[in-house]
Amino acid sequence: MFITFEGIEGTGKSTQITRVKEYFEAQGKEVFLTLEPGGSRVGQELRKMLLHVDNSDLTPITELFLYLADRAQHIAQVIRPALDAGKVVLCDRFADSTIVYQGYGRGLDTTVLRQLNEVAVDGMWPDLTIVLDINPEIGLKRAMLRNLEDGKAKEEGRFEAEHISFHNRIREGYLTWAAINRDRISVANADGTPEEVFERIQTIIDGHLDR
Ligand code: TMP
Repeated sequence: MFITFEGIEGTGKSTQITRVKEYFEAQGKEVFLTLEPGGSRVGQELRKMLLHVDNSDLTPITELFLYLADRAQHIAQVIRPALDAGKVVLCDRFADSTIVYQGYGRGLDTTVLRQLNEVAVDGMWPDLTIVLDINPEIGLKRAMLRNLEDGKAKEEGRFEAEHISFHNRIREGYLTWAAINRDRISVANADGTPEEVFERIQTIIDGHLDR
């Protein structure tokens, strides 16, 4: 089982993924938690390049290929082996981030992005994708605060530094893309306490398992 989590900055994805991990473990399943960019050794180097505020001169196409390179390495070295070993794989961001950020956000052609993603994922599409949805103003504030608290405002702040209109496009992009891919992607309202949000996610996961 391969589940990915998506959403704009500051939706509380990492907190929720940890809860989902505990939920599956309580059912006796072995869970592997990973993320993009940065889920492999080489990917960690790519992550530094991709997220540092100093790299604001990356062109959209360069940015795209770095994310795809990260994904290809992640699939081959990390995700495929974990799934082959029978683990539940939970991934913080995956191919849909490319469609939404590089497509709806940067303006690249989503049909081309879908084809390039096919190459990078090499047949490994998630069984289920959960988009955490929140007002971008709330999300962005949370994300900036977290980066400051972690002392990572520069290292991880390149996307947070984008104008609010970019983040609004990303949110709309996720909702549009989820509607196009209803069979795989579900949207959960991320406004509320962590417990409330987790209940919504649990309902989605249980519904998927019952199918
Ligand atoms: P995060 O790990 O804090 O979520 O940061 C990753 C950033 O990278 C986030 O702003 C979204 C962006 N991103 C893309 O633009 N394209 C992608 O394919 C992926 C995986 C992430």
